[in-house]
Amino acid sequence: MPTNHKDRSAEPRSIAANHPFEHQTPNRTKQDSRLADAMAFLRGFMAQPMSVASVVPSSPYLEQGVVRACDLARARCVIELGPGTGGSTRALLRAMSPQARLLAIELNPEFSNRLRQRNQDQRLLVQEGSAADLGLHLERWGLPAPDVVVSGIPFSTLPVPVAQSIVAAIKDHLAPGGRFVAYQFRAHVASYTTPEMGEPSFEWEWRNVPPMRVFRWQQP
Ligand SMILES: C[S@@+](CC[C@H](N)C(=O)[O-])C[C@H]1O[C@@H](n2cnc3c(N)ncnc32)[C@H](O)[C@@H]1O
Repeated sequence: MPTNHKDRSAEPRSIAANHPFEHQTPNRTKQDSRLADAMAFLRGFMAQPMSVASVVPSSPYLEQGVVRACDLARARCVIELGPGTGGSTRALLRAMSPQARLLAIELNPEFSNRLRQRNQDQRLLVQEGSAADLGLHLERWGLPAPDVVVSGIPFSTLPVPVAQSIVAAIKDHLAPGGRFVAYQFRAHVASYTTPEMGEPSFEWEWRNVPPMRVFRWQQP
């Protein structure tokens, strides 16, 4: 299995355990961290507008709605597609069990490096690459079929063949009884996924820029 971490066994457990990938100096506040993420996200959008597709990261309200839809209590293997600057990643980690693993797959090298550098949570694995290669990434990290796949990827701006291959990879690898959760303003993701996985349930989260639908598919 590739290594993603240095050995942190000698580091203070309270910091690593309570503050997933926050290893800032003590006077650096949560607000500073959110602002730094927002600036990095904006730079990412300006460099790759079609791939990032939003000028600001998800709001904490949306992050919480996504976490609820994922139903993480019993999940052992969770995959996040398009973690961006990591706000959604931190929210998932806070809700996951101590035994679970989260593989975050991010296309943008600046975002994936940022996630890797700031990660203090040993449950998190960061993979730079495309969600379309989900099967290869699972194999590379020696992970089982995921119980939950959650996506922030902007399906509405993806080339159709890329969107189709991401959906096929999710369908092929999700564990029986697993869930796929995707948050989107538009419904393109549903047009790709519904023929493969049936009709989703969804809820709007209005407290986000832009408002988002949180879609959820459940495997039989
Ligand atoms: C709208 S942002 C969501 C970021 C973050 N999850 C959030 O909620 O703020 C979409 C993210 O998907 C990433 N992305 C786009 N296409 C991708 C692909 N094929 N594979 C992996 N990540 C991708 C972008 O680089 C970007 O970080």
